Amino acid sequence: MAGVFVTGTGTEVGKTVVAAVIARTLAAEGRTVAVFKPAVTGLDELTADGPKPSDIRTVSAHRPDHEILRHAAGSNQSDEEIAPYRYGPPASPHLAAKLAGEEIDPARLVAAARAAAAGADALVCEGVGGLLVPLAWRLSRPIDEKVARPYLVRDLAVDLGMPVVVAASPGLGTINHTLLTVEAARAAGLTVAVVVLTPWPARPSQIERSNRETIETLARVRVETLPRLDLADPGSWPALLPPPA
Ligand SMILES: Nc1ncnc2c1ncn2[C@@H]1O[C@H](COP(=O)(O)OP(=O)(O)OP(=O)(O)O)[C@@H](O)[C@H]1O
Ligand SMILES: [Mg+2]
Repeated sequence: MAGVFVTGTGTEVGKTVVAAVIARTLAAEGRTVAVFKPAVTGLDELTADGPKPSDIRTVSAHRPDHEILRHAAGSNQSDEEIAPYRYGPPASPHLAAKLAGEEIDPARLVAAARAAAAGADALVCEGVGGLLVPLAWRLSRPIDEKVARPYLVRDLAVDLGMPVVVAASPGLGTINHTLLTVEAARAAGLTVAVVVLTPWPARPSQIERSNRETIETLARVRVETLPRLDLADPGSWPALLPPPA
């Protein structure tokens, strides 16, 4: 499947921003870009204080991820096509699903992502939280494991066969979080295309500059930076393309 799977060192680390900039870059090159997010949670919080759905300044921190991604990609996919599971509570997807009296079906996710990709030149998929976040508790694949294990965000990335982009903070603590994420990705056979430190300050401190070099050296991975962007003005965003696999 052509495209990338944007994960992060955790929640609220810039996955949506990074995915949006990649989608925008691909679309600006003339490619048809589809976007995908297996599950969106916390919609209750957004509707409480966010702008009206009709607000044309769609790309803001107060819009749900699937709307930001759709806008950045210039896609006409429906909410359902981008994010098949959407929940009100700001909880982990497996819990949000449980609270809604259902369970996320891994096969449905994979089918939905493939369907989204089928109509496009590239798929930009944003994960949920980090790589080891459970999406569902059912046995993820017919393997000879003795115990059922959860279907993780990482399993979805593997099933989609896409290289991974890791969004991470530039500051203190990021070395450990980023190295753990890269290691978890590689342990499952995933290719880490690039780590993106975001938002990268205009005048990075010694710690931030050192973090970038240290991650590059210890993880043997390319590390890019993304400055603080005006999210309401995609025209002002820099280009960001993961290296070819
Ligand atoms: N380069 C950037 N420019 C502007 N804002 C940024 C940038 N990087 C991160 N942010 C801000 O950091 C916050 C978290 O970013 P984002 O929503 O992309 O995180 P996320 O990892 O997708 O979160 P979630 O786990 O909820 O999906 C947002 O308020 C976003 O605006
Ligand atoms: Mg997000």
